[in-house]
Amino acid sequence: GYIVLTTIKEITNHVGKEVKLGGWLYNKRSSGKIQFLQLRDGSGFIQGVVVKNQVTPEVWEAAKSLTQESSLYIWGTVRKDERSPIGYELDVTNIKPIQIAIEYPIAKKKHGVDFLMDHRHLWIRSPRQHAILKIRAEIIKSVQQFLDDHGFTLVDPPILTPSSCEGTTNLFHTKYFDEDAYLTQSGQLYMEAAAMALGKVYSFGPTFRAEKSKTRRHLIEFWMIEPEMAFVEHDGNLEVQEQILSYVVQHVLEHCRPELKTLGRDLGRLEKVRAPFPRITYDEAVELLHKEGFEDFKWGEDFGSPHETKIAESFEKPVFITHYPTEIKAFYMKPDPDRPEVVLCADLIAPEGYGEIIGGSQRIDDPDLLAQRYKEHDLPLESYDWYMDLRKFGTVPHSGFGLGLERTVAWICGLDHVRETIPFPRMLNRLYP
Ligand code: 4AD
Ligand code: MG
Repeated sequence: GYIVLTTIKEITNHVGKEVKLGGWLYNKRSSGKIQFLQLRDGSGFIQGVVVKNQVTPEVWEAAKSLTQESSLYIWGTVRKDERSPIGYELDVTNIKPIQIAIEYPIAKKKHGVDFLMDHRHLWIRSPRQHAILKIRAEIIKSVQQFLDDHGFTLVDPPILTPSSCEGTTNLFHTKYFDEDAYLTQSGQLYMEAAAMALGKVYSFGPTFRAEKSKTRRHLIEFWMIEPEMAFVEHDGNLEVQEQILSYVVQHVLEHCRPELKTLGRDLGRLEKVRAPFPRITYDEAVELLHKEGFEDFKWGEDFGSPHETKIAESFEKPVFITHYPTEIKAFYMKPDPDRPEVVLCADLIAPEGYGEIIGGSQRIDDPDLLAQRYKEHDLPLESYDWYMDLRKFGTVPHSGFGLGLERTVAWICGLDHVRETIPFPRMLNRLYP
């Protein structure tokens, strides 16, 4: 007789008791005298069992009337059941439909990607998308937990900016009253200022790139975690990166078992992801490519997806590629003092073909060298003057990196495409829904 409104996730606290749930029907099976209702409420999934001779005719008919995605309140007694994926079932005692849904467009059959993307607002209800979004949230939580526990302060950089961080080719332009403005490509330059004020900092927010590339790794709007650290140099930068990523992967393995199972993820591959990660230089990576079928690759070119995938195949863990040619990297990266034609940077390449998930570097701390780079890259002084101030007033060695959230989610979840890693992806030719 003791009835509480609870959630599927909390049902373990109510075994043997009668509870009330608000939810949706996502599937139904019937065997004449019993109806099996597959229910979801956002927190989880459970089977409700309606037995004809144990409920009133009204409740039996209400169960029969339920279509896919009908909303309802449902009452029942929680029973332990070893056969259930969550270990519990609901012996239904009462049902109150809220709305009977008519012709839900996403049926059980296989749909094409465009159809699913057009119905993304409904598609996210499916068990698979539910699992991905849960894991995404858990990844965000664990990254922030790690950084918060290791002395980093969260700092929010602006979204509207007067200048570019990662080159001008893929900037989103907008008007800022009478001035020109751009949607941020990266919060890095502001995080460098913040590091000089707060020591170890990080940002977490959306970034925008008008990339014309239509690949399974590119979004137009994606989220980045960008730590920046005063007094930390190249090697220390890589250590923080491998520590964070090991922590995140092991956290997800521990807290998201049911979700990883729903996705059919190979857990053995993830269990191996523990610091330290292997490191190879750009030079060594080029040599490896020459031996592995990319004989024509020339020193000084940037790696594309096929190259990154080939390099990653030689390693079980994520691999750092360090010391890229200065020419192909951003203006702010510090050259190797022993070899100024390469920079103190690293891209972290995920295993299994997921490509670059982190880009980072030690930053130029010398004002004269930075001034020279402004000239070489044609950067307008009026937009970058403040950034030069960071080198004029107590400059220090410092480093940082950007962890791409969606590529990390794709890798940890084992997905074919980043479009499933974010609730409402913005892609080339897709702004809807
Ligand atoms: O390598 P990127 O361009 O580095 C920066 O923006 C630096 N300013 C970060 C820093 O040092 N604070 O981007 C960093 C990461 C990439 O490794 C990748 O994971 C992700 O951001 N990324 C994208 N993810 C999805 N779609 C895109 N179009 C992406 N571009 C970059
Ligand atoms: Mg990069």
